[in-house]
Amino acid sequence: MKDFLSISKCTTQELLDLLDLSDKLKKLYKKGKTDNCLAGKTLVMLFEKPSLRTRMSFQIAMAQLGGSPIYVKPEDIGGIGKREPIKDMARVLDRYADGIMARTFAHETVMKLAEFAEIPVINALTDWSHPCQAMADVMTIREHFGKLKGIKIAFIGDGNNVARSLAFVCAKLEMKITVASPKGYELDDKSVLRTNEIIAGTTTPTNNPLQAAKDADVIYTDTWTSMGQEDQKQKRVADFQGFQINADLLKASPKAKIMHCLPAYRGCEITDDMIESENSIIFDQSENRLHFQRALLKKLLA
Ligand code: CP
Ligand code: NVA
Repeated sequence: MKDFLSISKCTTQELLDLLDLSDKLKKLYKKGKTDNCLAGKTLVMLFEKPSLRTRMSFQIAMAQLGGSPIYVKPEDIGGIGKREPIKDMARVLDRYADGIMARTFAHETVMKLAEFAEIPVINALTDWSHPCQAMADVMTIREHFGKLKGIKIAFIGDGNNVARSLAFVCAKLEMKITVASPKGYELDDKSVLRTNEIIAGTTTPTNNPLQAAKDADVIYTDTWTSMGQEDQKQKRVADFQGFQINADLLKASPKAKIMHCLPAYRGCEITDDMIESENSIIFDQSENRLHFQRALLKKLLA
């Protein structure tokens, strides 16, 4: 495993090993123990979009492991693929740093960086996927349910990057996901097909949120308007009416755990009382971004 670009590119064993390492490092961390396995190593962090969780958790994870993170805004380097081709950038960074993580619009950008850099490249979210989020999510689910196999997730909302990575992690780890989206916003057919080729019946698309939520172990949502789609916000808010996690929807599965990758738009995809409810494991999810990131960096860079 050189890079971490997509869940689909990892084997089930690689994913499970990463989860086990995340659990182990979290336990040690809680006892005040971290190791210096990345002393002298540098991670270049390229961000075309804003970030709180991903940026901070990678930056802090690097620091905790004794390494140095370097945060780069696109304008600092004249834009990714603008001042110079991505393949040149990748080969230059390859000679300076020990790893690259990138949050980009086009998924092709992280793929090109990985193709031309010999050092590990990590996908920190693209328009297509958000694999680090999906891994912290399943780490959190396993902590709360003691298992992953057979867990049923209802994803209510846009068939976006977060939904796609969740569907792939479900397929690899024998979980099930129903993705309930308004017409025109469903998870793409190819991802549904590919996850169902890994294990038949993994992903069920629907336009009915109540049907998705019924008997779900986890009810998950994400913003209706992702980064880069701000000009569609008004239309999306209108189109997604009825696809909100609220007290009514929770009646379909009253014991379900509520998840959200954050940032959350209260009153749109989720209500404030659901975020604050006893069912919510949203901040455990956020915390686990740090523990998973530490495990990933140790695995790829140490
Ligand atoms: N969930 C997540 O990736 O959050 P940020 O956009 O703040 O990194
Ligand atoms: N789907 C959201 C996730 C944010 C973490 C976005 O891409 O903006």
